[in-house]
Amino acid sequence: MDVLDLMKERRSIRKYQDRQIDREDLEKIIEAGLYAPNAGGGQRARIVAVHNKELAEKIGRLNLARFDRSKLAGGYVSSEQPSCIDDSTIKNGFYGASTVCVIFGGKNFLYSIPDAFCCAQNMVLEAANLGVASCIIARGEETFDNEIGRALLKEWGIPDTDTARCFVILGYCDGDYPKVKPRKENRFLIID
Ligand SMILES: Cc1cc2nc3c(=O)[nH]c(=O)nc-3n(C[C@H](O)[C@H](O)[C@H](O)COP(=O)(O)O)c2cc1C
Repeated sequence: MDVLDLMKERRSIRKYQDRQIDREDLEKIIEAGLYAPNAGGGQRARIVAVHNKELAEKIGRLNLARFDRSKLAGGYVSSEQPSCIDDSTIKNGFYGASTVCVIFGGKNFLYSIPDAFCCAQNMVLEAANLGVASCIIARGEETFDNEIGRALLKEWGIPDTDTARCFVILGYCDGDYPKVKPRKENRFLIID
């Protein structure tokens, strides 16, 4: 598929089937992340893929444990694929996705957040290309800022100098895949 068409068709999915994704697809999605543009060519972002639905669910609950909805009054994300902002009954920030990729970056590196999100963007595009549903998720830092989170980071060998910057959740869409979303107007200017 043309890359622009793929970009238009990719949507954030928050309703997932129980089915796990193939390891082969996961490896391609990770590879896409590793080929993302990165500050200074430093290739600093690291990815830990949790290809385990039970563990993904456990981390997804930590992701929302400190989520403060009070600051989001009036916020609205999607009626087709409601987010934790739209539906306060959602307790798993990963929405039941069977796999989650955690993207880490240096705590003290100025561009580690943009690096991580560039990585995530490449990953969701490759996922769409493979027919795998996905969503980028925030709150990396606070997800692991607790006893269980710190134990996982230790088990995974994450150095103290790194922190989770964001997540890419992966799985198969349950129900209808949302349509291409029209764009707001007047969002660019070309100067010839
Ligand atoms: C920086 C960033 C952070 C995001 N964080 C979350 C999140 O924590 N939870 C969530 O459900 N969606 C999250 N999303 C997904 C957006 O809500 C989604 O991209 C947006 O609503 C547009 O919908 P679309 O991706 O289907 O086009 C995030 C996206 C970006 C780019």
